[in-house]
Amino acid sequence: MKKFVIDQQVEDIEMPENLKLNTFLQEFHSDCLHPECRFGFYGFAFGQSPFPVPEPVKNALIENAGKGTYASVPGIQELRDAISEYSKRNYKFDADPKRIYVGPGTKELIFNLLEILHGTVILPTPAWLGYLPQIRYLKKNFHMLHVRANGKIAPNDLEHLILRLHDRQKILILNNPNNPTGLVYSQLELEEITDVCRKHEVLVISDEIYAQTTYEINKFVSMGKIYPEGTFVTNGLSKSHAAGGYRLGYVIFPQNTFELRRQFKKILATEYTATSTPIQYAAIAGFKESREMEEYFEITRNIHKIMGDYTYQTLNQIEGVKTTKPESTFYLLANFNAYSDYFLANKISNSQKFSESLIQHPYHTALVGGDSLVLERTDFSARIAFVDYDGKKAMENYIESTPTTGSDKIEFIKNNAPKIVDGLEMIKRYFKDLKRNADSKLTIRELDAGKALSK
Ligand SMILES: Cc1ncc(COP(=O)(O)O)c(C=O)c1O
Repeated sequence: MKKFVIDQQVEDIEMPENLKLNTFLQEFHSDCLHPECRFGFYGFAFGQSPFPVPEPVKNALIENAGKGTYASVPGIQELRDAISEYSKRNYKFDADPKRIYVGPGTKELIFNLLEILHGTVILPTPAWLGYLPQIRYLKKNFHMLHVRANGKIAPNDLEHLILRLHDRQKILILNNPNNPTGLVYSQLELEEITDVCRKHEVLVISDEIYAQTTYEINKFVSMGKIYPEGTFVTNGLSKSHAAGGYRLGYVIFPQNTFELRRQFKKILATEYTATSTPIQYAAIAGFKESREMEEYFEITRNIHKIMGDYTYQTLNQIEGVKTTKPESTFYLLANFNAYSDYFLANKISNSQKFSESLIQHPYHTALVGGDSLVLERTDFSARIAFVDYDGKKAMENYIESTPTTGSDKIEFIKNNAPKIVDGLEMIKRYFKDLKRNADSKLTIRELDAGKALSK
């Protein structure tokens, strides 16, 4: 049999955590023989919008399916114009369409930016699980910057770190609104970060893929507006338009970057020629102003908020547990470190073991543990995504009878997202068992072997 030799550079990188998680869950699923495992699991792990692709986008894709020619490298002009208008209309960030490049996903564009920009990367943590494998693959120098207890970058900490770096260029990855915390930076906070970046000429890649999901949309401010000469803003269809599978993202370059864009174009042309033409036409319908799209954004962000508030309130009822209060996205970050001793008593010595013990019978609950969020392995924080429900049905029911009072909202969740309700109860039960179990000889992992708690 032929032996294939794989390039060492590829051997050295790890599978990005989201794919690893997928494999892990699938393996778990097929391995578990307990009848209850047939049910599957409570899915707090995957960060995918539950809603259907908006009708205008879907229809535009169908109408343009026959467009088989290559598009120009930066994207078709009509789309770049539509994105420019969209950015102005929604985020009051006015950028010439020439500064906008379209690519097959935000992830790809961030990778392309990291490819062409020399420099040391500053990665605030906790972080989305996609950045680090790219940084490693590109063999870039990087430094973590742990955020403060409020979940945000402290400008002083940023400056201290910058002063220790001697590379002639530094690149800060700012993810706002933030995955995993669900937090949104205020204008003032962005201005303070900008002061530091401007002083030390640090570039910013501002990943704003969750901008449109900000519950109070007027609270979102784009870094591109605050620091126009140094920020690359990235965004796309994946989260706001529930179309991750379409693979379409865009980057808005800083001002006065003609030469840089020329170089970027070269890289895109070398790597993938252009983004799929029919998908670009579909995206025009998603970014152009229309009553249908406005309604779609409003309804989906309101439902995210209802689910987020409920998840936040329920988890914070567990003694000792603290979470961020999401203001955007469909995630929050839960801090379970108050249970460290109980974890250890249960032979759960790191966050990987924690997520494994929670996925196993009888809990069947999937979340993303701290090690996948670029935290210390012994940090028992976890990302909880609140998207495990039928988004189409939830939208229809929301339109038919919009919940306004607190009790309406609880009713809405119970009817539309029963797995979120039951899954959160399961997390509560897990921590109760963990605590009760800590003194006994039986560890929580042994429950899987069918040894019920007798105490
Ligand atoms: C913070 C963040 N950036 C980027 C992406 C990827 O976006 P895209 O699907 O456009 O590549 C994700 C997807 O999970 C994300 O959470």
